[in-house]
Amino acid sequence: MSAAAPPLPFEASRLPAHLAVIMDGNGRWAEARGLPRAAGHRAGTEGVNRVVRWCREWGLRHLTLYAFSEQNWGRPEEEVGALMSLLAEYVREQRAEILARRIRLRVIGDDLAPNGAGRLPGWVRAPLRALVEESARNEGMTLTLALSYGGREELARAARLLAEDVAAGRLRPEEVGEGAVRARLYAPDLPDPDLVLRTSGERRLSNFLLWQSAYAELCFLDCAWPELTAEELLAALQQFAARERRFGLTGAQARAARAAP
Ligand code: FPP
Repeated sequence: MSAAAPPLPFEASRLPAHLAVIMDGNGRWAEARGLPRAAGHRAGTEGVNRVVRWCREWGLRHLTLYAFSEQNWGRPEEEVGALMSLLAEYVREQRAEILARRIRLRVIGDDLAPNGAGRLPGWVRAPLRALVEESARNEGMTLTLALSYGGREELARAARLLAEDVAAGRLRPEEVGEGAVRARLYAPDLPDPDLVLRTSGERRLSNFLLWQSAYAELCFLDCAWPELTAEELLAALQQFAARERRFGLTGAQARAARAAP
C-alpha cells in the first residue's frame, strides 16, 4: 500500500483536467543499479500505483499513462514478455482498488479498438477488457492506459476510417474537418491533455497523443519514472497552474475568454 498523497498546495480547480504522462527511464533506472530492465519496469509499476493514488486523492479528472507503445513491440522478446506480465498483474492486483476508488479504466491503442491488430496476448487483453467494462460507469477519475499505442498509427487509422466512410457515401469530402478526424480517434470523448509530462530528462513526445497534444503544456523532469516523488509531481503541477495558456489568442483575449461565464 503506497503512502497517502501530500496535500495539494493550491486550489484543485488549478489542476490540469487531464494529465498525460510518458513514464520514461525504467530501463536506465534498472541498469544504473545493475538490475535487469524488467526490474525497472516492475519499479515503474509501483510508480504507477503511487501516481494513480496521488492523482485520485488530489481530485484530478483524467490521467493518461503511456504504458506500451506500438514501437515497443520491437523490444527484445524477454522485455516485451515482462511488460505483458506486469500489465496482467497490474489488472489482477489493482482491480479492487480501482473499483473501490471509483476509477474508470480505459485503454487507447490498436489492440482494444474495433478491428484492432490484436497483438496483446489474450491473458492480458481479457482481464483488461473486463476491468474496462466493469469500471465503465465509475466517475471518480478516468485512468487511460495507452497500450499498443502510437499517435501516427491513431491518425492513420482515423484517415482510413474517413476514407472508408467517404467511399461508402456515409460522409462527403467537404465534411472532413477537425471534428470528423477527432470522432475517429480511439477515445474521441476524452478531453485533450492540458499537461504532458515526461520523466527521465528526454525532451520529446515519442509518438504520444500527437493530435491531442496540439495545445498541451509540456513539462520534462530529470528523474526516472520509478523515482518520481509526490513533491516533484506537485511542483510540475504547480508550474502548470502558473502558466498562461493562450490557444493562439493574445494574452488579453485569452484572459477575457477565461473570465467569460
Ligand atoms: C519507458 O521506459 C517505459 C516503458 C516502455 C514501459 C512503461 C511501463 C510501466 C511503467 C509498467 C507497466 C505499466 C502499467 C500500467 C502496469 P524505458 O524502458 O524506455 O526506459 P529507458 O529509456 O531508460 O530504457
